[in-house]
Amino acid sequence: MKESEWKNAVVYQIYPKSFNDTNGDGIGDLPGIIAKLDYLKDLGIDIIWLSPFFPSPMADNGYDISDYQGIEPSFGTMEDMDRLLFEAYRRDIRIVIDLVLNHTSDEHDWFKESSASLDNPKRDWYIWRSGDGNGGPPNNWRSNFGGSAWEWDERTNQYYLHVFDKKQPDLNWENKDMRKAIYQMIHWWMKKGVAGFRVDAITYIKKNKEFPSFEADGSDGMVTIDKGSLNQPGIKKHLQELKEKGFRHDEVFTVAEAPGVPADEIEDYIGEHGFFTMLFEFDHVDLDLTASAKWYEMKEWTVHDFKKPLFDSQRRLQEGWSALYIENHDQPRSLSRFIHEGFRHTHSAQMLAAVYFLMKGTPYIYQGQEIGMTNVEYPDISSYNDAVSRHQYDYALANGCSEEEALAFIWKRSRDNTRTPMQWDDSQQGGFTEGSPWLETNSNYPEVNVKTVKAASNSLYTFYQKLIAFRKHTAVAPIIEKGAFQALFEEDDHIVAYKRTYENQEITLYANFTAERVPVSFNEENRQVIVSNNDGLGPDSLWLEPYDFVIFSNVHYEW
Ligand code: NOJ
Repeated sequence: MKESEWKNAVVYQIYPKSFNDTNGDGIGDLPGIIAKLDYLKDLGIDIIWLSPFFPSPMADNGYDISDYQGIEPSFGTMEDMDRLLFEAYRRDIRIVIDLVLNHTSDEHDWFKESSASLDNPKRDWYIWRSGDGNGGPPNNWRSNFGGSAWEWDERTNQYYLHVFDKKQPDLNWENKDMRKAIYQMIHWWMKKGVAGFRVDAITYIKKNKEFPSFEADGSDGMVTIDKGSLNQPGIKKHLQELKEKGFRHDEVFTVAEAPGVPADEIEDYIGEHGFFTMLFEFDHVDLDLTASAKWYEMKEWTVHDFKKPLFDSQRRLQEGWSALYIENHDQPRSLSRFIHEGFRHTHSAQMLAAVYFLMKGTPYIYQGQEIGMTNVEYPDISSYNDAVSRHQYDYALANGCSEEEALAFIWKRSRDNTRTPMQWDDSQQGGFTEGSPWLETNSNYPEVNVKTVKAASNSLYTFYQKLIAFRKHTAVAPIIEKGAFQALFEEDDHIVAYKRTYENQEITLYANFTAERVPVSFNEENRQVIVSNNDGLGPDSLWLEPYDFVIFSNVHYEW
């Protein structure tokens, strides 16, 4: 994909398991995605990011891959994949797939061989260590999913390292043969016709080779594995090689999930000679987490916490490019997370969409975001599938929360909030499946579904459609692509506002990010209101009602 293409593109993320089931087994599938390509074309998106669809025991819903070059049977066949690539291409939609390179499943053949004996040729493809001599693991690192990051394997009496679930052993990036096998796999997918990759958890691939214990940061005596495994010195050598030998040529689109990159190193990742096309940053979505990332310690956030990281990133990236998002499969739904209860309607959802769409970068829409899907509140922890939610629930109980309190945190933060089945219509199970869905459908599907939302006047779906078209309009695209970014009302804790300027053209957005009525004074004489979710707003307006937004410009445009 050429630079000019991805810079004007909008990406839509599909979580295959929850998108559309065509064979009644309650699990989404590739034919289900093909059946909805016209829907996506109509929305106006250009790229689909497909979360993992490879064979997997599903300990982490596909992020535990047991064969990089196959298709999970419950999702379909390789022929379905080829057909999806072809049918998407035919509609001018490109497919970007998830590359999970930090770990595989423990059921991958590589790991089966590696764990078979100490002298197996693939032993060194994973990270094995003996215990600490006192019957404990090699060090006190805590995995991201909870508990020790080391799992004992009695076949060879050693522990293996896992940053995530114990069913996701970490690959050893110090091993050349392993890296070579990864690059070959990447070439294979490129040859098949994928346009690029979303690169999972890539800042974890380099480990502190000494594997030291660190001072504990919790009552469990352990310390976050980030200390010894996130963005460690020496990682850039691996990333440079991945770029040169893996992705090879410039036209491969790559978006890195890269937590932990310090602001002053972001240039190395995505600058002109960077390792990736763009990367996901996290601060604006992690705004309710404390440093320990324990959900039961969730903190209150302010509008400032949301806009500051985004604005800082925009300023930093005057020369670079950003991946803009407010939802994905690891985050709660944006309406439930950012909008006050009682205000979670089209009006506020339109505001959320407008706020991130006009920044410099490529916007991502997560399935269901375009119709305003919201969080779920299952009454019992047993209804949750997400491994992280279950661990977080246990942490909360172990730290004195009642079951009700622990569940309330899960409602807010669970990754299952965005993994519930896509709501297509008001028929049983929201039209997702004719069977019984793998995860309970959100009970609001009779009102919140594609069919009903699309039919409504001034709907959220139509708004996204128009927002996408607006960004791409020939008079607007250069402002989005090249325009300078200027934050407005920066210290204000209600309003999110910014101006984009290119040559003598500009677009300004003002949004009230709160449930309060706030006074405002625009500086927009002679500017046209391009669009607002409040018809009464104009250059002379004095107030923004809760969750109002307005976009002004000196470019003439018929919304
Ligand atoms: C990040 C992915 O987005 C998340 O869903 C997954 O659990 C971890 N990486 C491990 O692959």
